Formats: sequence, structure tokens, C-alpha cells
Amino acid sequence: MMMMIIGPLLNPSLAPSLTVPSIQAMEVMAPPTIYALNGSSIRLTCTFNSCYQVEKKQFSLNWTYQGCDNCTEELFLQFKLKVMPMEENRFGDRIEFTGNPSKNDVSFTLRNVQLEDEGTYHCYVMNPPDRHKGHGKIQLRVITEEPPERDSTVAVIVGATVGGFLAVVILALVAVKCVRRKKQQRLNTDDQKTEEEGKTDGEGNPEEGAK
Ligand SMILES: *[C@@H]1O[C@H](CO)[C@@H](O)[C@H](O)[C@H]1NC(C)=O
Ligand SMILES: *[C@@H]1O[C@H](CO)[C@@H](O)[C@H](O)[C@H]1NC(C)=O
Ligand SMILES: *[C@@H]1O[C@H](CO)[C@@H](O)[C@H](O)[C@H]1NC(C)=O
Repeated sequence: MMMMIIGPLLNPSLAPSLTVPSIQAMEVMAPPTIYALNGSSIRLTCTFNSCYQVEKKQFSLNWTYQGCDNCTEELFLQFKLKVMPMEENRFGDRIEFTGNPSKNDVSFTLRNVQLEDEGTYHCYVMNPPDRHKGHGKIQLRVITEEPPERDSTVAVIVGATVGGFLAVVILALVAVKCVRRKKQQRLNTDDQKTEEEGKTDGEGNPEEGAK
């Protein structure tokens, strides 16, 4: 009986999946919660990392709004060859795309924030040939009064520290992933190269001998 319990725990194939976070999807960075003052303008930031440069022809972005946990997501902004706010979206002309896909930034700005704008904002990004779809989500909370200054300063410092740390970790993970991927590709091309070099060497050497 003991063996049956210990066995799976010692299974080496299980161990790496527990310790090393596997990076399956494209990394999308978005603040989990944003507080906005009623009537103000707020930028909802969403950025992503990809091993591939953005090709606008293939790049795809969807921003959706979800009013409650059970509510369906409403598509209100799309990037498909160019930025297209959906017609008759709930925000009207209060939304403006303020990102730059070439710089891995797909943020937008919401003007004159209303209490009804509270909810979850999802950004979905696809950057072929990266096959994985990236997903970020932001909770928007609308407040009617500025919080006491001291609290917000502390919150900003804590947020910046945690956020900065996470950004560094994510960047490091992406760098490792990209290096690995490129190394693998280089190994493949190196194999072909050595074969070709071998051929030219074989042709080159007799010439030298003739001189
Ligand atoms: C939100 O702001 C608008 C105008 O800026 C104001 O008319 C409205 O009363 C505010 N709502 C609340 C709940 O404070
Ligand atoms: C979500 O829907 C389920 C069933 O459709 C319901 O039981 C649940 O109470 C709903 N939750 C909320 C937060 O509305
Ligand atoms: C965005 O939505 C369209 C359908 O409206 C879908 O074809 C496309 O794959 C979506 N893109 C992303 C990145 O989710």
C-alpha cells in the first residue's frame, strides 16, 4: 500500500511539471484591477510578449466587456488589419485605441467613465506564427471619490514593486523560452550547414592540392 502512495510522488516525470511553470500561452500583462474616478478618463493597459514580430496582416486582437460573472462577453474593439471599434458598442465614442501592436501594446482609453462601466475587460491577442492565444483581464472599479492620498501612495508603491518583480520574472521566462526555441531552430539549420560545408570541403581540397 505504501508503495502505491509513494510511487506517484517520486515519479520523476511529475516533478518538473510541479516546479517549473510551463509556458504554454503567449504572455499577456494587464493589471488585475483598475480603479477609475467617475467622469475621468482611464487607460486600460494590456501588453504582450511574443517570440515573433507583429505582422499586422496576421495579428488579431479582441477586447470584450463582461458585466458580471455569468454575463456573456461583449466584443467592443477589434484589431483585424486595423483598429475597428464595434458599431453600437455599449461605450459609444468614449473608447479610443491608444496602443500600438507593433510595440506589443494593445491598450485602449475609456473616456468619461460611468458607474455602469464596472466589470471585467478581457483582451485576447493572437500573433501568428505563435500558435497560442494570449488572454489578459482587468477588473474595472468605478469610484466616486478620490481615495485619501496616503492610501493611494502606498497602494501605488506596493503595486509597482509587485508588478515590477512580476514583469522581470515574465521577461526572464520569455527570454529563456525564445532562446530555447531559436537554439532548436539553429541546431536544425546547423545540421544542414555542416552537410553542405562537408560537400564544399570535399570539392575545395583537391583544388588546393593541385596548386
Ligand atoms: C458621476 O459623475 C457625473 C458627472 O461627472 C455626475 O453627474 C454623477 O452624479 C456622478 N455619479 C455619482 C454616483 O457620483
Ligand atoms: C450564474 O448562473 C447560475 C446558473 O445559471 C446560477 O445558479 C448562479 O446563481 C449565477 N450566478 C450569478 C453570480 O449570477
Ligand atoms: C476575435 O474574434 C474573432 C471573431 O469575431 C475571431 O475570429 C478571432 O479569432 C478572435 N481573435 C482573438 C485573438 O481572440
